[in-house]
This record gives sequence, C-alpha cells and structure tokens, in this order.
Amino acid sequence: MESFTATVRRSAEVAATVTEHPERFRVLTGERPTGPLHLGHYFGTIRERVRLQQAGVEMLLVLADYQVITDRDTTAHVRENVHSAVLDYLAAGIDPERTTIFTHSSVPALNQLMLPFLSLVTEAELHRNPTVKAELSASGRALSGLLLTYPVHQAADILFCKGNLVPVGKDNLPHVEMTRVIARRFNERYGEVFPIPDALITSTPEVPGLDGRKMSKSYGNAIALSMTSDETVAVIRQSRTDENRRISFDPVSRPGVSALLSTAALCLGVEPAELADEIGDGGSSALKTMTATAVNDFLAPMRERRRVFSSDVDLVRAILRSGNEAAMTVAEATLDQVREAMGMIY
Ligand code: TRP
Repeated sequence: MESFTATVRRSAEVAATVTEHPERFRVLTGERPTGPLHLGHYFGTIRERVRLQQAGVEMLLVLADYQVITDRDTTAHVRENVHSAVLDYLAAGIDPERTTIFTHSSVPALNQLMLPFLSLVTEAELHRNPTVKAELSASGRALSGLLLTYPVHQAADILFCKGNLVPVGKDNLPHVEMTRVIARRFNERYGEVFPIPDALITSTPEVPGLDGRKMSKSYGNAIALSMTSDETVAVIRQSRTDENRRISFDPVSRPGVSALLSTAALCLGVEPAELADEIGDGGSSALKTMTATAVNDFLAPMRERRRVFSSDVDLVRAILRSGNEAAMTVAEATLDQVREAMGMIY
C-alpha cells in the first residue's frame, strides 16, 4: 500500500492539471444508493463534480446498486434512492448531456470484468482492506463474499470506462489503491489495456453530522438535500447541544454545538469560530436558528430546481436509460479489448 501522504500529494498535483487540461481526464465516481443524499455528499463530492463538469472534464457517475447489498439484505428502497439521487444531481448542476449517469446492474459487461480482476488479487489482500474491515464490524454480521470483494467490483466501475481520475472521500482511498494494483497487474500480465487511475481527494474536510459524528443516514444525523425547509428546521431543533450559553467552536468537548457551527459555516462560506463569536452568549437556540437559516438559504435554489425537475415524471427514467446505454457501449468496447488481450476471442 502506498502512503497516504503520497496519495494526497499526487491528488494535489492532478487537481492542478485538471483545470489546464480537462481533456486528459475521464472521471468516474458515484455512490451507493442506500438513502437520500445529504449535505455531507454535497460538500464532500457533489460540488466538486459540478466543478469538474464545468471545467470540461468527461464524467461518469455510477449509482452503485450492487454495492447496496454488500452489508445488508434488502433492496427495498434502492429504486427510490436511485431516483432521488438523480434529482439531487440535476438540482446540484449535473448536466446529463455532459455527464453519464448509470446504474451498476444495467451494465452487464462492467460486471463481467470482475471475473478476471478477481484473479489478480489474493485473499490476504482482500482481508487487509481497512474500509472493508470497518464496514464489516459496523454491520455486525458475518462477512459476505460480496463485502469482501466489492473493492474489486469498484475497480471494475472505474476501469470499465478507463477512468483515470476518481474523486473520493478518505473512506474510498483503499479501493482506488486496489484499482491501481489491479490495473497494473492486468497490464503486466496481458498487455497494456488500463490507465492507472488517481484519486482526487476533495478539499472539504469530512462534514460532521448534527451530533458531531460523520454525517450518515444510518446515524440519523443528516440533513438530506431533498428535505423541505420545515423538515430542516425540525432536525436542527432536535439536535443535541449543551447548556453552556456561550457558543464556542470546540469539536472535541462540544460536538453538537460545533457540528452546527461547521454546517452553518460551510453554507455561509465562513469560519466556524467567526460564527461562534457572532452568536456569543446567544445560546443553543440562537445557534440553531442561525444554522437552519443558513442551510435553508443555501439549499433554496437547489430545492427549487429539484421541484421543477421532479414535476417531469419521465425525466429520471429517460436520463437513466440513456446513461445506461452509453455506459453499456463503453463497457462492451473495454470487455472486447480485455478478451483480446487475454486471447479469448472465439
Ligand atoms: N464506494 C462508494 C461509496 O461509498 C461508491 C462507489 C461505487 C464508487 N463505485 C465507485 C466511488 C467507483 C468511486 C468510484 O459511496
């Protein structure tokens, strides 16, 4: 495994090249449709994707539906989560004319790449992945074959389209690292087919949830992009703060207060400590009012666009249909090259 600092350094170098030479990059990234997208997704990655798209970088976004069943045994809400994520993308400024949005399960040739890729990694390497280990322990279940091997599937997501730049949060760095290993080994064994992709680590630090832990739907501490402004006020009102009326930014001893300050600060584009000074002795109630207003003002234009897009009932289906078709064409071309490199042309 490469050191984290090396990855961060390369990420910064690539980020500098992107604006100068957008044509050199093909970005592949995405998420598991396990719940509504929230502010953490927005500041963590969606905003960056819109920027890349505006810079003229070619981009594919995967709604990784097969990744939903790595650590859970229901697909009950996948369809609505996929639908909702597409609306969030559109509202945030993703343009389906320029960016391909697709779902795993619709692209057979992508999934087939998993077979040769699995042969390129050892069981020990799979077991060593820190993110898989963390997800396993969080799931409180036995390790499924898919949870153990999904980083290889994620390599197929990235490599099927020869993606060479992968905007991800820290959680996903081990997967990008594994993708690099797989691409290198494939090329060494069978001849040059794949680029060696770079991770692009987004600049925003992890967005805290309302309780100071990582923002996650499963912790119930998230502000979904699709919430109404009243729902936003309600979750912020319910969040836990403390009795101290003097507001200060101190994430370790005051996680709730600090999470609200961080959230408002991100929305307003200022520093959390500045906001704390502004509120002074106003207490939690003033802090919550200010945060709710900041979030609602920030999300208002996106929510308005979302409302307009969602009134067109066929829009999402049409976007996915054409995105899936485009992804299939790309995946089949790559799979043909893979077959040829492996001498499996009959
Ligand atoms: N694992 C990513 C997440 O946690 C989702 C994902 C699936 C992904 N395939 C990908 C991200 C390929 C980047 C590249 O949300």
